[in-house]
Amino acid sequence: MVKVAPSILSADFVNLERDIRSLSQTGADYVHVDVMDGIFVPNITIGIPVVEAIRRITPLPLDVHLMIDRPVRYVGAFCKAGADILTIHVEADTEENNLSALRQIRANGVKAAVSVKPNTPAEAVLPYLGLCDLILVMTVEPGFGGQRFMEDMMPKLKTISGYLAAQNPGCELEVDGGINAETGRICRENGANVLVAGSAYFKAPDPEAFVRAVKA
Ligand code: DX5
Ligand code: ZN
Repeated sequence: MVKVAPSILSADFVNLERDIRSLSQTGADYVHVDVMDGIFVPNITIGIPVVEAIRRITPLPLDVHLMIDRPVRYVGAFCKAGADILTIHVEADTEENNLSALRQIRANGVKAAVSVKPNTPAEAVLPYLGLCDLILVMTVEPGFGGQRFMEDMMPKLKTISGYLAAQNPGCELEVDGGINAETGRICRENGANVLVAGSAYFKAPDPEAFVRAVKA
């Protein structure tokens, strides 16, 4: 089943409650929350108190994407704040610390995930496959919404889809960056089943129709 995860980075932050509550009315499956620290990526966004607040106003699972340096320091806090899926970046720390972060996430009863930036090869996810419930392949350079979809990530997506089929068939495969109905279709053809959409979702005149089109 294809899932759509609107990224609230493109929501109206003055009306965040309104925008988040509306997600459960449009067929969206997850709320994608982008956490940035100004070090791992050149931007700063949402932190732990905001995740806690969002948790209180939506029944949808919170898909929290940590774009922070050495995430092992904070995964416990994000689990307690209410993340349902917690994604760390493989580039953000040593393999040992990343494995420890994934184990901590699972010990908190939260789904664990790793993400790869565009310049990171598919093989970089291999040490983590057995500990992951979701793999996120970035289709833009992380840091900002509204960037152009990188179609050249498709071979990597397909390779990772093959790893999952062979080694962890229950694991979800998510893409993030520049996703609309057309680029979403390309990603699905290459194995993705969770599609993050920020600007395309929040700029859509009819978000419900947008979700339908992305899933069609
Ligand atoms: C970028 C974030 C994305 C972003 C996607 O670093 O991880 O989730 O919000 O935005 P769009 O869909 O506009 O590319
Ligand atoms: Zn994201």
